[in-house]
Amino acid sequence: MCGIVGAVSERDVQGILLEGLRRLEYRGYDSAGMAVIDGGRVTQRAREVGKVASLAEAIETNPLSGHLGIAHTRWATHGEPSQVNAHPHMSGDRLAIVHNGIIENYQDLRDELKADGFEFTSQTDTEVVAHLIEQYYRKHSNLYDAVKAAIARLRGAYALAVLHADEPDHLLVCREGSPLVIGVGIGENFIASDQLALLPVTDRFMFLEEGDIADIRRDAVSIHDREGTPVERKIIRFEHGSDSAEKGEYRHFMLKEIYEQPAVIKATMEGRTTDTRVLEQALGTDAANLLQDVNHVQIIACGTSYHAGMVARYWIEELAGVPCSVEVASEFRYRKHVIQRDTLFLCISQSGETADTLAALRQAKQAGFRAALAICNVPGSSLVRESDLVIMTQAGPEIGVASTKAFTTQLTALLIFTLALARHNGLTEEREAEIVKAIHQLPGQVDQVLALDAEIAEMSKAFMDKNHSLFLGRGSQFPVALEGALKLKEISYIHAEAYPAGELKHGPLALVDSEMPVVTVAPNNALVEKLKSNLEEVRARGGELFVFADSAADVKAEEGIHVMQLPSVHEITAPIVYTVPLQLLSYHVAVLKGTDVDQPRNLAKSVTVE
Ligand code: F6R
Repeated sequence: MCGIVGAVSERDVQGILLEGLRRLEYRGYDSAGMAVIDGGRVTQRAREVGKVASLAEAIETNPLSGHLGIAHTRWATHGEPSQVNAHPHMSGDRLAIVHNGIIENYQDLRDELKADGFEFTSQTDTEVVAHLIEQYYRKHSNLYDAVKAAIARLRGAYALAVLHADEPDHLLVCREGSPLVIGVGIGENFIASDQLALLPVTDRFMFLEEGDIADIRRDAVSIHDREGTPVERKIIRFEHGSDSAEKGEYRHFMLKEIYEQPAVIKATMEGRTTDTRVLEQALGTDAANLLQDVNHVQIIACGTSYHAGMVARYWIEELAGVPCSVEVASEFRYRKHVIQRDTLFLCISQSGETADTLAALRQAKQAGFRAALAICNVPGSSLVRESDLVIMTQAGPEIGVASTKAFTTQLTALLIFTLALARHNGLTEEREAEIVKAIHQLPGQVDQVLALDAEIAEMSKAFMDKNHSLFLGRGSQFPVALEGALKLKEISYIHAEAYPAGELKHGPLALVDSEMPVVTVAPNNALVEKLKSNLEEVRARGGELFVFADSAADVKAEEGIHVMQLPSVHEITAPIVYTVPLQLLSYHVAVLKGTDVDQPRNLAKSVTVE
């Protein structure tokens, strides 16, 4: 995913920009670049394919020095990773911009600008924006007015930072669908796509809101909203220390990671969705061509990532109408396959280094699949390097062995992928908008579930001295039940089994007695009445029920039935929200039992051996 850094200062900004880019490396990128305005008021630029270290070397040989500059790490969407496609992009030799996001109407604008005499040197959507701003600059002779006029013509998602050598004292930045933060210094100011990039220079930040345009000077920041009204954005102090691999105020990494979910789900959707649509190009340069050919999806993963794949199967078949198979990698790799024509091979992995998943990918590449898509959390991992197309989750480092935020961000990425695929398979614009809206509501809904933490901790006491437990779900909540059971067994060592609730009477009901807690997830969907009959079956055998339910599902608390009400959520996004109380339940049971929550016995974070 692309990263942006910028600075206006009395000191030379080159070092600040380079350090900022280094701090954004964890997001994954394929090229890096920088532009500064020097004392002679000329815009100078350096761009390199590969690592920030290559850019640093290039700059050491040919220094760029100046007091105002912008820099970027690029993750290719329009046009291959190459020096000419790397940012900053320039129009003429005075205006330079960096951009995160996707401009959907870039082709029309490109044709128009070409007809007006602008020459293009790259295949990117970003260069179109550079020329468009320059065109308006010629008319308005004012960078703020030029940027405002240009962005009014853009469709899609963007965070932009713009400089012009004719106005060497300030930067213009704006956002729509991609994050951008202003770092407030003393006698100097900064901008970035992620506050982590700026922690060496400031701990005070202003977060731009959608539609904002900000003018950044050495000693002043002024912001206008979408309507052009001057606005103030609160300065927020960064409190958590600069290292995301620290526990901070949390007792365990697992708890910290559960609590990070609203933010990382948001980060995973950002730049990939507008208010109403998924931005297909954000899935990769070739995504549109590929997705229109896909007739079947084969998902491969292990453990928690496999459960994410199981949820995705429900989505892919329901929304895209494309057949989907899901299999654990350790089974897939050791059997013969019949590969249907135009099957997309989709691997899901937090680490990108899981031995079975990698082996399955390597086999698949020989076996005649249409292409390999990876959903992964670690940039530069083997899975990322070896796949044709990659969707990075933005969970940040996951330290707790039991996967939590990786799972919910995998689901977010998988749902975005599903919508892009579904668009080629008859999904209406209205339905897409409805689901994208539901995706945008996720961070708030997960926050509401986190607010139930104390109640869930109370509930967990009922599990402390139990040896067995059963998890039930139906439809896309069945994999959620599987994930809940996996979390409980991993960290509390209580035996937990998950079943589709309809299977109860085909066997597991024999296990149910007063010693068997039964956990159930019950969003309000078409299957809820059937689920309630299954709960009756449990209750009739003396089983104690712990139900996480939508209030509209009307599950009544009574003797032996504990009900915790969750927010009303869209049926499609419900698996993401309903996972969270199960994570908290397992966490609190493990804490009560005094196990090693972050490093449970016998388990490793990254399973790089078979
Ligand atoms: C469970 C867990 C494991 C991993 C599995 C796959 O909490 O963490 O089941 O999900 O080992 O790992 P990745 O996703 O790194 O391929």
